[in-house]
Amino acid sequence: MKRLEAVNYAKSRLSGLRDCKAEAEWLVALVIKGKRSDIYTDKELSSEEQKMFLFALNEREKGVPLAYIFHSAEFYGIEFEVNNSVLIPRPETEELVSLALKHIGIHESVLDMGTGSGAIAIAVAKNSSARVTAVDISKEAIKIAKHNAVTNNAKVEFIISDLFEKLDGRKFDYIISNPPYIDKKEYDELDKLVKDNEPKLALYGGEDGLYYYRKIVEEAPKYLNRGGKIFFEIGYNQADAVSKFLEKDFYDIKVQKDLEGQERIVYASLKDRR
Ligand SMILES: C[S@@+](CC[C@H](N)C(=O)[O-])C[C@H]1O[C@@H](n2cnc3c(N)ncnc32)[C@H](O)[C@@H]1O
Repeated sequence: MKRLEAVNYAKSRLSGLRDCKAEAEWLVALVIKGKRSDIYTDKELSSEEQKMFLFALNEREKGVPLAYIFHSAEFYGIEFEVNNSVLIPRPETEELVSLALKHIGIHESVLDMGTGSGAIAIAVAKNSSARVTAVDISKEAIKIAKHNAVTNNAKVEFIISDLFEKLDGRKFDYIISNPPYIDKKEYDELDKLVKDNEPKLALYGGEDGLYYYRKIVEEAPKYLNRGGKIFFEIGYNQADAVSKFLEKDFYDIKVQKDLEGQERIVYASLKDRR
């Protein structure tokens, strides 16, 4: 079977999916360990590739996301290796990166709190001149994030730390965070596929889902430069609560909806306390 035939065949089998063309192209690209542009040739799939192609197609047809099948995910046009120590970077988080990049100026400093696969930190490092630091409590996550920085040629400083614990005396112009934000009820009802493939540490935000926002907002002023800004990804019903937390030390608190119309980002500027 030729690469292009494989794409067309996958497209027909995956026709029930929202973007079956992109899914089929991405699936074949992952099978041949190449880029999406590499599929548009007359080349035959090797017998190994053909076996993998059929296996992956069956899995995808059953609903398993490509990221779980291939341990690979595309985020902000960048390829990331993922495993079950990290959250698969989500398209919603690309909007957080886009918004932050509109604010980040030349040679400013950025902290990605709870970096996971390194998605936010690496996307910011590759698309700005910022000095980027990324923190995670998980040793395994930092290992994979470091690997992703190397394979993507991104300069990021990685630190294993429980929130700000290892950042004493450090200050940043921006803190960006997509912390765990699923509450207990939602976590209990979560799809088995997600629970089996992604770590609870990356998903569960405590009984009310707001634990990390409270902690980060409380400590952030100590770690931000004057005029610093904070950007959070939030769950669909968390904008009011997170905005309330921010009121004490931040102003110009804004909420942005995602492409689906759900409140998805809260961002704000540090109050000046001269
Ligand atoms: C929702 S995931 C986000 C991962 C990545 N930033 C992304 O957007 O795809 C949250 C991350 O926070 C990390 N985390 C959980 N508790 C933490 C803590 N106390 N200190 C630092 N990181 C923590 C988890 O290990 C996980 O990688």
